[in-house]
Amino acid sequence: MNRRHSVESAGMPCRAPLHIDMLPYPVVVGAFLEREVAAFLNSRSMKRVVLLCDRRVEEHAYRYAEALPKGTPVLAFPLGERRKRLRTVEAVLDALAEAGVDRQSTVLGVGGGVAGDLFGFAAASYMRGVPFVNLATSVVAMVDASVGGKTGVDLAAGKNLAGAFCDPIAVFAAIETLDTLPARQLREGLGEVVKHAILEGGVAFTRLEELASLSLRAWPWDAIVAESIRIKSALVLDDRLESGRRELLNLGHTFAHGLEYATDYRLSHGAAVSIGLRAAGLLAIRRKMFSREEHRRLISLLTQLKLPLHDEDFETEGVLEGMAADKKARNGALRFVLPRAIGEVERGIAVPLSTVRAVVERLHTV
Ligand SMILES: NC(=O)c1ccc[n+]([C@@H]2O[C@H](COP(=O)([O-])OP(=O)(O)OC[C@H]3O[C@@H](n4cnc5c(N)ncnc54)[C@H](O)[C@@H]3O)[C@@H](O)[C@H]2O)c1
Repeated sequence: MNRRHSVESAGMPCRAPLHIDMLPYPVVVGAFLEREVAAFLNSRSMKRVVLLCDRRVEEHAYRYAEALPKGTPVLAFPLGERRKRLRTVEAVLDALAEAGVDRQSTVLGVGGGVAGDLFGFAAASYMRGVPFVNLATSVVAMVDASVGGKTGVDLAAGKNLAGAFCDPIAVFAAIETLDTLPARQLREGLGEVVKHAILEGGVAFTRLEELASLSLRAWPWDAIVAESIRIKSALVLDDRLESGRRELLNLGHTFAHGLEYATDYRLSHGAAVSIGLRAAGLLAIRRKMFSREEHRRLISLLTQLKLPLHDEDFETEGVLEGMAADKKARNGALRFVLPRAIGEVERGIAVPLSTVRAVVERLHTV
């Protein structure tokens, strides 16, 4: 079956791409962006390009390579969170050197959030930095990981502990690639979309409540992705290095990173974020910041979206250990981003360990 047809029939429209010009680099959201990618590279006179891709999206990477100068290499790597490590970066750097990539070359990274973080980091270090274009193929990558310039990998001590701030020169959210994203990844990626909707409130949140009963394959993904990117971009714009308002984007993430660490990355990032959002709500209720009514609204949305709210199989102490290693900890004290209401979120809230432990315990059950 013709792929364009299959994507349209899956409810993913082939409308004109949406251009978001809020950041120092262009962000384009739409289906089948081969022409847009080629035109962007041409406009910058970037003739030498190498594609790095997650092996699972090789088919998409080759399709995009076809629109680029003949002979553009495609280098594929098996990825996944457990491979988001320095040893994989080394393998990528070796492959770039072997392919004869030089400082006049541009790296186009194709894949989900792991690919973006890892290839972005490799591009930032290769020959002290070559330009990086991010072509995002998962919901998490499109709405979050590709935008904002955070790159890096996990260490044994915790998630994302080695990395660099390094902006891409362009981001393309290739909506048609969601057609091959497994249903579970498509759904769990909504954890980050809900996070952005809590930060923004208003229509961003009610739209998700309205869409929740529809099949995910029928969602207007280009509009949803573009809105999420706009919400993130507004926070990233004036705070590139995360010293201020950008921290709000970590809503639910201290818990999420602790859960991912404690489950040895069995939980996907999106699933952990969903549970982390519930945990942030529970903690905010204990701090008397957040009403039970608002919390019920949040839980109702996560439930309707069939996102996880608990996990039976983790050690509480493991989560606390992962949280302590989180970059958001300062002088050993855990500080949280917590909601006051849907649409009103506060950062830098220190919470006693005993309260955090009690909330983590609650996450074993619904
Ligand atoms: N840098 C940031 O600001 C930032 C923000 C959010 C998340 N992240 C990171 O992103 C990662 C999570 O991203 P993710 O959920 O995309 O994980 P992922 O990259 O591992 O992708 C999830 C799974 O889907 C597969 N996949 C991706 N796109 C596909 C497609 N179109 N078709 C078929 N299979 C596809 C991947 O191979 C993988 O198996 C985490 O490591 C997280 O820390 C980074």
